[in-house]
Amino acid sequence: MIDTFGRIHTDLRISVTDRCNIRCFYCMPNENIRFRPREELLTFEEIERFVRVAAGLGVTKLRLTGGEPLVRRDLPRLVAKLAAVPGIDDIALTTNGILLAEQAAELRAAGLKRLNISLDALDDELFRQIARRDGLDRVLAGIAEARRVGFDKIKLNAVAIRGLTESQVVPLGRFARERGLELRFIEYMPLDAEGRWSDEQVLSGETVLRLLTEEFGALEPIEPSHAGQPASDFRFVDGGGTVGFINPVTEPFCEACNRLRLTAEGQVRNCLFSLEEWDARALLRGAAGDEQLAALLRDCVRAKRAGHGINAADFQRPQRAMFQIGG
Ligand code: 5AD
Ligand code: SF4
Repeated sequence: MIDTFGRIHTDLRISVTDRCNIRCFYCMPNENIRFRPREELLTFEEIERFVRVAAGLGVTKLRLTGGEPLVRRDLPRLVAKLAAVPGIDDIALTTNGILLAEQAAELRAAGLKRLNISLDALDDELFRQIARRDGLDRVLAGIAEARRVGFDKIKLNAVAIRGLTESQVVPLGRFARERGLELRFIEYMPLDAEGRWSDEQVLSGETVLRLLTEEFGALEPIEPSHAGQPASDFRFVDGGGTVGFINPVTEPFCEACNRLRLTAEGQVRNCLFSLEEWDARALLRGAAGDEQLAALLRDCVRAKRAGHGINAADFQRPQRAMFQIGG
């Protein structure tokens, strides 16, 4: 699936639910949330069929997201189904970690290869301020259990917010270094549900890098392991491991994007910031054959724009917030 800018799409992100057990302000509203009724969500069988078609068109990597994917019942059953699809060689999961301690072993047994766990703050009060719920203890227990059951290359995702999370940069750095986890700082994007984002709240990757350097000494850039990798990775020169920066706002990486997204209710998007969606659910639930699903995917890829345009004067936010798209 090659778009008009020559980008080849091999990565599919699948949201399995729009529900979540916490309420991070950069993603969800705090109240009056309208979740999709259960019958609107794709079933595991529908997701599997979609993935077979996508794999036939060159998708090799999957990432399960939400909402919070672990609130969807029986997720390991979906992982096992998808791991068996010919052509799929990598399945990853992005989770807030709250339910991870209970599910880590089963997920790994089902064929999950990689885990990204969100951790923006190591301070209880700040965690509560961001997530608007308690849960830091459970996230930390989830991380510990994931390590215990043998997940390697666990990544920690920290959304960096100016005026709020500067104090967490060094503690997060230390936490990750001590455990051999790969920490990644993500710039805050205009995908919050309450429409409060402003560029003044973006704590740039460059600033975070400086804070880390002041504490731990020099970091040197690592060559990207594959094209399309959104993070710029660095290595602590003192041997303390690596840290990555996802800088969608200050250094857009759209020109190397290889990702497509499937929302929980079966809409295909060619970008987080896409203003248009392609209705795969209608085809999955109608009489359409696999060729029609393939044609829909090709149409969606063909319509992909050059980039998100966050920094352009005429930037338009998507109608959906992060929890309704999938990270
Ligand atoms: N900006 C940047 N990252 C975000 N995430 C959720 N909303 C935003 C946003 N507005 C991140 C979460 C998680 C992943 C699902 O996406 O922290 O790591
Ligand atoms: Fe839930 Fe993740 Fe959104 Fe936070 S960012 S509210 S954990 S879905």
